[in-house]
Amino acid sequence: MQPKNPEIPKPDHIAVIMDGNGRWAKKRGLPRIAGHRRGVDTVREMVKACGDRGISHLTLFAFSSENWRRPRTEVDLLIDLLVSTLENEIRKLHENGVNLKIIGDVERFGSRIKLLIKNAEQLTSANNSLTLTIAMNYGGRWDLLQAMQQIAQKVADKEINVEQIDESLVDRYLSTAGIPEPDLFIRTGGETRVSNFLLWQLAYTELYFTEVLWPDFNEHELDRALLAFAGRQRRFGQTGEQVSVGR
Ligand code: FPP
Repeated sequence: MQPKNPEIPKPDHIAVIMDGNGRWAKKRGLPRIAGHRRGVDTVREMVKACGDRGISHLTLFAFSSENWRRPRTEVDLLIDLLVSTLENEIRKLHENGVNLKIIGDVERFGSRIKLLIKNAEQLTSANNSLTLTIAMNYGGRWDLLQAMQQIAQKVADKEINVEQIDESLVDRYLSTAGIPEPDLFIRTGGETRVSNFLLWQLAYTELYFTEVLWPDFNEHELDRALLAFAGRQRRFGQTGEQVSVGR
C-alpha cells in the first residue's frame, strides 16, 4: 500500500505504550479487563492504519515484566486476552502480509503459549508489509541484561574479543535484532515516562505523549502524532544548521 502523504517525513518504526485501559473502563463503571478488550480493538485499528500509511514497523508494549505485580485475576485475564487475540487474529494478519514477532522473556509462559508464539512467528516470517512486534513479559533492562550475558559468554568462549563489542554488536544480541530503531514513540494515557520499554533502542527516538486513553486512540489521533513527528527536526547530535544543509 502507498503512503498517504509521501512528501511528509514519516516514521518507519513506531513504538507504543498503550496506557489507560483501566481508567477507560473505570470511567464507565466497567471491570478493567473491559478496557483491555477495547484496547485490542485499537490495536486492530492501528495495525491497519500503519499499513495504510506505509509505516513498516509497529512495536506494542502489551505486557511488561512489571505487570506481574498486578492482582492475579487481572494478570490471568490479560494473558488470556493476549493469547486468544493471537489465536483469533493470526490468520488475518498473515493474509495481510504482517510479519509477527514477539519479544520478551517468553520462558515465563507455559508450553502452550510458547508453541503458539513459535507457530505464529514461523507462519508469518516471510511476510513484509508490516512488522508487528509485540512485547510480552518485556523489560528494557531485561533485554540489555540478556544481551550482555550472551556477549559475555561469547567472550568467555573466545568467539569474540572485548574490542569487538560495539553498538552494532550489541544491536545484534538485543531481542529487537534486525528491527530498525523506533523513529517515533507514542505513549497514551497521560503519563510521561518510558517505563522500562526499549531503553537502548529509544536513544534517538522522538517522544510523543498524549492524554488520550488507549481505547480512545484512533486513526485521527495517530495522524496527530504523525504531524507532530513531521514537524520535528531530528539532529542525531548535530547542529540544526548542519541538518538543514544536509537535507
Ligand atoms: C496499560 O493500561 C495496558 C496494559 C498493561 C495492557 C495492554 C494490552 C492490550 C491493549 C492488549 C493488546 C493486545 C495485543 C494482541 C497486542 P493500564 O491497565 O495500565 O491502564 P490504567 O493506567 O488506566 O490503569
